Amino acid sequence: PADIFPGRANSKGLDLNDAATLNATLAAVEEVGRQTYQATALVSGQPVTGTPKSVTRPANRSESVGSVVEASADDVKRAIVAASNAATGWADTPVEIRAAALEKLADALEDNRLELIGLCVHEAGKTLADAVAEIREAVDFCRYYAINARQQFQPVALPGPTGEYNELRLSGRGVFACISPWNFPLAIFLGQVTAALVAGNAVLAKPAPQTPLIAWRAVQLAHAAGIPADVLHFLPGGPEVGAAITAASEVKGVAFTGSTGTARAIARTLLEDDSRPIVPLIAETGGLNAMIVDSTALPEQVVNDVVTSAFRSAGQRCSALRLLIVQEDVADTILHMLKGAMDALTLGDTADVRTDVGPVIDEASRDKLMTYRESMKAQWLHTVEAPQTGLFVPPTAIRLSGIEDLTQEWFGPILHVVTWKAGELEDVVARINARGYGLTMGLHSRVAETADRVKALAKVGNLYVNRSMIGAVVGSQPFGGEGLSGTGPKAGGPHYLLRFANERTVSVDT
Ligand code: NAD
Ligand code: ALA
Repeated sequence: PADIFPGRANSKGLDLNDAATLNATLAAVEEVGRQTYQATALVSGQPVTGTPKSVTRPANRSESVGSVVEASADDVKRAIVAASNAATGWADTPVEIRAAALEKLADALEDNRLELIGLCVHEAGKTLADAVAEIREAVDFCRYYAINARQQFQPVALPGPTGEYNELRLSGRGVFACISPWNFPLAIFLGQVTAALVAGNAVLAKPAPQTPLIAWRAVQLAHAAGIPADVLHFLPGGPEVGAAITAASEVKGVAFTGSTGTARAIARTLLEDDSRPIVPLIAETGGLNAMIVDSTALPEQVVNDVVTSAFRSAGQRCSALRLLIVQEDVADTILHMLKGAMDALTLGDTADVRTDVGPVIDEASRDKLMTYRESMKAQWLHTVEAPQTGLFVPPTAIRLSGIEDLTQEWFGPILHVVTWKAGELEDVVARINARGYGLTMGLHSRVAETADRVKALAKVGNLYVNRSMIGAVVGSQPFGGEGLSGTGPKAGGPHYLLRFANERTVSVDT
């Protein structure tokens, strides 16, 4: 089908199978590795002063990427005042100007793509393929929200009795807080920020403390693309910076992506002050994502999609497969092949194009995953060797006796496996639904009725049939969950911008 916005197209990305493109990309990644980035919080575009905190590579902590001066409590206060003062002017700026700035930013991201790929590789430990996809998704968000806003933010005349004129118009809410995770340090960071901006909000952008440098480059490019410096403020730091931003009564909306626990903490903060207006919270959170495989599925395809879904990006995607539920008739075959496929994975530094699985993001994550993995040793189905240098967690498959044994999201390359018997399909889906998370689900089956049944029963935001469960594409697979996995609306979909806006109806007796 044609795109709902005629003429819109996603970015082409980069073809790493082309030798010249690959060599240029590797050279750029090496060059970024030689740089020392010095980022700071930016209040009205001005760098703040403070003690720089060093940023090192997850693949090798002895190697520096640069440093960041995080936002202090005073910087946050100054940014809130400046954003509040700028918000009305930006909301009144014609949507065409706001949309054009996003498109200019998309072009700038493409022009600077190789540097941004290098930053993703070094700062976030992304593989080259993941880094290419990350920049592409960020570009797609900019262009999608620009074209979406141009259409949605035009005033709409509505019918009424003779002598009356009715109009519905969308307007920015004021100051919006955008709080993002480290696992998509450019795409999610900019996805939230560009949506809030194009809807007419002034933005306080807080990246994750693990990945401030790439976000800082993105904000520099956004300012250069025409987003006024007092409309977009950059406030890197940890939970305390996020908490200070969300506690401020001037903040009229929050876009958050991260863990379910943090979403709850933010929701509580927003409700703490009884005199504060009710503030919308867009929360995109974690999942206990399952894939059901029946006995008709093609084993080679299943194994390929399981490995991609569970281990690509070192399992550090909210969409990643956590629980494989395979029909017992084919379990031995699938698991035998899965072990072979896991043995074929190359773990290593992500600056090396041969690497399939890179490091996890930080020591806390590595230690948590390794402690859990060790505690489950008696139930290991398979694991592989990992490099000793860097924050690596060996991809591991763990047998569980029931769906309910998986009690929390393990955010790394750890796959759990259970079996089911013919006739239990509906019970399996009901038990997955009963966990309360609703982000992604996968199904592998060649029976159309089975797919129809799962489509009807699954309570998830994104259901993937006979394919991998990761890599949602802007404009094609609007992404986001329900229940404990998030509030919606879906990023990269046509309803996302609406939550960033106030709707105003004007009725005039003519
Ligand atoms: P996190 O919840 O620890 O942190 C996310 C962001 O919230 C960071 O910027 C952090 O500094 C900030 N923060 C932490 N406490 C805060 C508070 N009290 N107030 C305000 N801000 C606060 O998550 P993470 O470890 O960065 O990311 C991994 C999690 O994100 C996983 O659970 C993953 O499933 C989820 N995720 C979800 C999606 C989605 O679209 N559903 C996408 C990516 C990641
Ligand atoms: N949007 C990301 C994916 O689909 C999280 O993998």
